[in-house]
Amino acid sequence: DMGGHDTYMHKEIHEQADAVDRALRGRIDDRFSTVHLGGLNLDARDARAVRRVKILGCGTSYHAGQIGAQMIEELARIPADAEPASEFRYRNPVVDPDTLYIAVSQSGETYDVLAAVQELKRKGARVLGLVNVVGSAIARETDGGIYVHAGPEVCVVSTKCFTNMVVSFGLLALHLGRTRDLSVADGKRIIEGLRKLPGQIEEILANEAQIEELAKEYAEAKSMMFIGRVRGYPVAREASLKLKEVSYIHAEAYPASELKHGPLALIEPAMPTVAIVPDDELLEKNRAALEEIKARSGRILAVAHQEQEKADHTIVVPKNEDELDAILMGIPLQLFAYYTAKAMGRDIDKPRNLAKSVTVE
Ligand code: F6R
Repeated sequence: DMGGHDTYMHKEIHEQADAVDRALRGRIDDRFSTVHLGGLNLDARDARAVRRVKILGCGTSYHAGQIGAQMIEELARIPADAEPASEFRYRNPVVDPDTLYIAVSQSGETYDVLAAVQELKRKGARVLGLVNVVGSAIARETDGGIYVHAGPEVCVVSTKCFTNMVVSFGLLALHLGRTRDLSVADGKRIIEGLRKLPGQIEEILANEAQIEELAKEYAEAKSMMFIGRVRGYPVAREASLKLKEVSYIHAEAYPASELKHGPLALIEPAMPTVAIVPDDELLEKNRAALEEIKARSGRILAVAHQEQEKADHTIVVPKNEDELDAILMGIPLQLFAYYTAKAMGRDIDKPRNLAKSVTVE
């Protein structure tokens, strides 16, 4: 039942405030400015013994893992990175006993992720799951983990589950941080930021009419560039994937800092750029990238916390804590992908050649 929506994608985008609320419910501990994650199976001593974090997933879940890795580094100061599970398992990786491995998956059935988990377990590693479907294969094979509680996701492309994965990583980063050096004051600040998310998601979705207009305009492009820097880069990658999947428009994502090392050659009026521009310590650097694009007559759509003078259009999103901004900045671009695909008459819930759960190699 689509409850008045024309597609599951549209319905699921609009379920995100409730979904995030569910991910937070019962987990926040105001007394100690931390969170409780019941199924984690990692006591404070274990948490303090972690020397590295390695996050594994595919597609959108891998992008959620990239944001998660940044949050864990920032809040818990543990070196962390994400890698596609498929790459990891084919390169005979060094499995390190002091590394905490985290497998991320909506379905909990993705074969490459499951196979990576099994290989890690065989080698004696500690593996946690960050999974949506309760009781799925990856949830069962891992030593513990976090359910992301996004609820059932029917559309082939992931939207609300991505958001809940990133929120769940925020919770984990806060939890790990508070067993280490994150202060009570910073813990409080992050909790306040997390609590603001559902309301801020509603604000973003209330801006739907503007996004629909912009999508119609940009739907004429043959190809689009997505750029971001540090926190904004995985957001750009995920937005680029979403656009490709549902509209079939070619898109690529680059770190804004890499533009001048090659992709700037592509910039011209027919190649629009979507730029993620958070109001953080990198704002001026990002503005400089917009200037470089403008100097080559590139069209720019910015997603930012305030109007960007160099951009042709800005979608303004509400500001949260710097460490949590990445959770919100991709949401308008889910709607952008949806409306672009709609303008082009695509089969939005079932894009050609794709399946909801990839249980083969
Ligand atoms: C993108 C998308 C895919 C999945 C990927 C992993 O919108 O849906 O890229 O994210 O196939 O699937 P899960 O999360 O079920 O392991």
